Amino acid sequence: MAKSDGTEHNRRELLQAAASSALLALAAWPLAARAQTAGGTPLKIGMIGSGREGGALGAALVKAGHPVMLSSRHPEELKNLVGGLGPLAKAGTVDQAIEFGDVVMIVVPYGAMQQIGRDYAAALAKKTLVIDVSNPIARRDGADLVKAVDEQGGAGLATAKMLPGAHLVRAFNAIGSAKIAADAHRAGGLVGVPIAGDDTNAIAVASSLIREIGFEPVLIGGLAKGKYLVPGTPLGGEHSPAEIRTIAAGLS
Ligand SMILES: NC(=O)c1ccc[n+]([C@@H]2O[C@H](COP(=O)([O-])OP(=O)(O)OC[C@H]3O[C@@H](n4cnc5c(N)ncnc54)[C@H](OP(=O)(O)O)[C@@H]3O)[C@@H](O)[C@H]2O)c1
Repeated sequence: MAKSDGTEHNRRELLQAAASSALLALAAWPLAARAQTAGGTPLKIGMIGSGREGGALGAALVKAGHPVMLSSRHPEELKNLVGGLGPLAKAGTVDQAIEFGDVVMIVVPYGAMQQIGRDYAAALAKKTLVIDVSNPIARRDGADLVKAVDEQGGAGLATAKMLPGAHLVRAFNAIGSAKIAADAHRAGGLVGVPIAGDDTNAIAVASSLIREIGFEPVLIGGLAKGKYLVPGTPLGGEHSPAEIRTIAAGLS
């Protein structure tokens, strides 16, 4: 569990530790998900998108001891959410959340990703980790957008193109917001969180954060496999870590 009394120094040590562990972490794909690299030290998390899914993830990260800035284009509307989470939670604008975070989570309708890339790609490229939880969904984002994402090889590669230089991992994409709170640290075996990424250090930090909120990360491959991390694919919904490994082994 992360402590809440960390300092800038602790954070730097953590990030350095994560970087050196990253080499070990990707010695083999299955082992990568078990590399414990960033645990125990608070990381500042900036949330772009603090709706159902972003709010649930932000709350879980606060509970694990991380300072979190939830953001909105109308931050005053986050007063109740933030007030209920205690002193580690703050509300801010999108700019402020990006500035705040060592790690940034993007949890927005996928149609907003292009604008976020245009406005914030340079700032996001400086972050240790950017977690993309966002999904292209036809009924919400439009069939044309979903088609365009597919033509680019799926959401992992499409997000990477819109956020050049970002240390990107896709995670939590098919776990519903209600399940985030309900299944964290659940008894009887952890729920697996399939993740995809190309950056070894980012994968190590993401894996540690996922463990800290009580799930088991399972690396299924690089960002090209991010296309499977959307609802409606075999990896959609909830699975045990072993089930995720079995399903992932059958994906091209
Ligand atoms: N809900 C789930 O169970 C779930 C599960 C897994 C993945 N996801 C994915 O997570 C993403 C968010 O889903 P949600 O259900 O949380 O949606 P939601 O409740 O409608 O929240 C959307 C959030 O995105 C923000 N946002 C929208 N456009 C933005 C922009 N241009 N710049 C900055 N922030 C913007 C909104 O902030 P404002 O206050 O500024 O409007 C709001 O906080 C989607 O891609 C979804 O597919 C959702």
